[in-house]
Amino acid sequence: MQKGNLLYEGKAKKVYETDDPALLIVEYKDDATAFNGQKKGTICGKGVINNQMSNRLMQRLARADVPTHFVQELSERETLVKRVEIVPLEVIVRNIAAGSFSKRYGIPEGTSFDAPTVEFSYKNDALGDPLINTTHVLAMRLATAEEIETIERYALRVNALLRDFWADCGVKLVDFKLEFGRLPDGTIILADEISPDTCRLWDSATGEKLDKDRFRRDLGGVEDAYAEIMRRLREHDD
Ligand code: TMP
Ligand code: ASP
Repeated sequence: MQKGNLLYEGKAKKVYETDDPALLIVEYKDDATAFNGQKKGTICGKGVINNQMSNRLMQRLARADVPTHFVQELSERETLVKRVEIVPLEVIVRNIAAGSFSKRYGIPEGTSFDAPTVEFSYKNDALGDPLINTTHVLAMRLATAEEIETIERYALRVNALLRDFWADCGVKLVDFKLEFGRLPDGTIILADEISPDTCRLWDSATGEKLDKDRFRRDLGGVEDAYAEIMRRLREHDD
């Protein structure tokens, strides 16, 4: 499959057209940003890790009947995916309080929830991805009621599957962000990526952060944390 025109360049990925209008090539970069692009840096080797981790996790989810955009890993940094129209929502699932949840509600980081939470942000960089509720989503016609229901159901299923998988790796899945897309026939599938950029992953024994918070919060050892989380995944995914 040949790379065609660059369709889109985001903060962490480039997306190319291919000779098949139904397929795109995603290329993962080492660039890292935080706080809506205000903080910029490079995490050496991140693109390779995020590509391989996302692909392995999506294949695991597909086997458990969560449809995803994954088609084929083409190289260390490149993957062939189904072309979708992205639903402009960041779908965030949380098992443990952290990040913006802790800040917004004054709940200490590390507080476990009795049941996972699901929230949506409106994907709009100019507005800083504001939190949005389902009545707002309907009012703005970002998704239909049926689509919202499907997205929430898949998001919770992804959480149950990944929480168990990461537990086997000695890792707590604190929270994560998903994005969904529509195929031309309207089918909703999981898109974007699942990686240490988009999940909070804490070592179960020590609580050590093995994710992008090391970059966001200047904790050091960023590359080592990405390598360690990938090592754990490989060990348990083969
Ligand atoms: P938050 O606590 O900052 O709202 O983040 C919740 C989860 O979503 C966390 O695992 C990091 C992920 N996330 C992204 O993937 N992209 C983003 O732009 C933000 C703000 C968070
Ligand atoms: N990637 C997002 C950004 O720059 C935020 C984040 O992951 O913290 O803006």
